[in-house]
Amino acid sequence: MKKAILSIALVTSLTLSSVGVQAFASPAVTTQSGVHNVLDNRVINKINVENIYNTIDYLQQSPRVAATEEEYQAVLYIKEQFEAYGYEAEIQPFEFFGFTAPHTVDLMVNGTSLTPNSFTYTASGEVNAELEYVGLGRPLELEGKDLEGKIAIIQRGEISFGDKVLNAARAGAAGVIIFNNTTGALNGTLGGANDEFVPVVSISQAEGTALVSQLEGGESVEASLTVLGAESGLRTSNNVIASKKATNKNKDNGNVIVVSSHHDSVPGAPGANDNASGTAMVLELARAMKNLPTDTEIRFATFGAEELGLIGSRHYVNTLPESELNRIAANFNLDMVGSKDAGDLVMRTVNGQPNLVTELAQSSSLRLNGAPTPFSQGGSSDHVPFGEKGVPAALFIHSPLEPWYHTPEDTIDKISKEKLEDVAQIVGTAIYDYASFDNMGPKPKKGKPQSVDTHMYFEEDVQ
Ligand code: BES
Ligand code: ZN
Repeated sequence: MKKAILSIALVTSLTLSSVGVQAFASPAVTTQSGVHNVLDNRVINKINVENIYNTIDYLQQSPRVAATEEEYQAVLYIKEQFEAYGYEAEIQPFEFFGFTAPHTVDLMVNGTSLTPNSFTYTASGEVNAELEYVGLGRPLELEGKDLEGKIAIIQRGEISFGDKVLNAARAGAAGVIIFNNTTGALNGTLGGANDEFVPVVSISQAEGTALVSQLEGGESVEASLTVLGAESGLRTSNNVIASKKATNKNKDNGNVIVVSSHHDSVPGAPGANDNASGTAMVLELARAMKNLPTDTEIRFATFGAEELGLIGSRHYVNTLPESELNRIAANFNLDMVGSKDAGDLVMRTVNGQPNLVTELAQSSSLRLNGAPTPFSQGGSSDHVPFGEKGVPAALFIHSPLEPWYHTPEDTIDKISKEKLEDVAQIVGTAIYDYASFDNMGPKPKKGKPQSVDTHMYFEEDVQ
């Protein structure tokens, strides 16, 4: 939470001086802290947490799974909001190979219904056939076997699920049942789409071993396997990008700060915190900063298909020309920034090292709250493609995660306005510290911000 009064002197890089709470009185120090105070307040005074909260409320009405109509509606809404704030907004489409889970997965064995699960990338189909046990489904076990039209029953283990299915299908199997080799349910993936796949379901270890005993006892076992609605193929998702160019051409330093989030969610999760929160904050920062004088371009981006493997952000970074990528001085990535039930704000960098983003945010959090936001190594979000290209990048997230992460309970009632306000202020002032042309000194691109080493913070009211 915010401490109203700060009395901290920062003499060298994040080393608190022995003076501790003593205020410095040198004119230089007064000027610098005064400048910071004014700059911070320009941003803080513009941020309205109600806007963030209301946008989250709007976006979390339904899950926003990548490439669905719901995600596209969110994309259109985000674009309209940018435009309402006076930006030109671009929708950047991209394609990826996706999978739609089946709506029906059934298995009847000798007239008894089981409760199977399906595999990601399974084919759809209905098969009524005799079962044949083929061990682990390795090539040697299938050699010379004629499974034509049959359902192969295979134990989990040794080789991938995808290879088991391919081996059985190539021996003629029309369907596959894979049973677990441990207790609990088996939810697996075949690894990627393949035209040779047949309908595949999983059953428990107990169910599988019982069937194998029957087969090995010489009984004939008839099964009816149904997988309907599974579909692999090309999908389209979209990124949304709006840009605030440097205010005046003479002062443009050519650098770009990218403030990002992902707007998609996982299936079944309204994604209020993951990640309507980050998306709503990107929008509010865009609104709040619209008319601030800056010598750096600030680019606001919300990415699609993050939950399927950072697909939108990778597309964005990979399709930028080298010269454009080199202009990006920093990426502030906001993902899960408002849960009541999560822990404190932390930053994650790809290599675990500090960078321009962590240093700017540590400076701003120290100015605002009296303590620098900690950071450590971490991936799993859209800062990764930036970090991997050498762009100083960090994820802003609360840790530990809330229990509602990726569940249907990730809803607006779990959102804290206090947390939202805290993160928006830390990030907004950090960005403006760099981007404001009122700031002093040259701007580092991929190194330390000068402010951390040279600026001193002393008693000031941060309200
Ligand atoms: N919002 C999470 C971010 C996250 C980061 C969660 C670190 C937990 C720890 C993100 O949307 C997410 O769920 N990411 C996936 C990985 C991604 C590459 C598909 C995850 O962590 O499972
Ligand atoms: Zn997320």
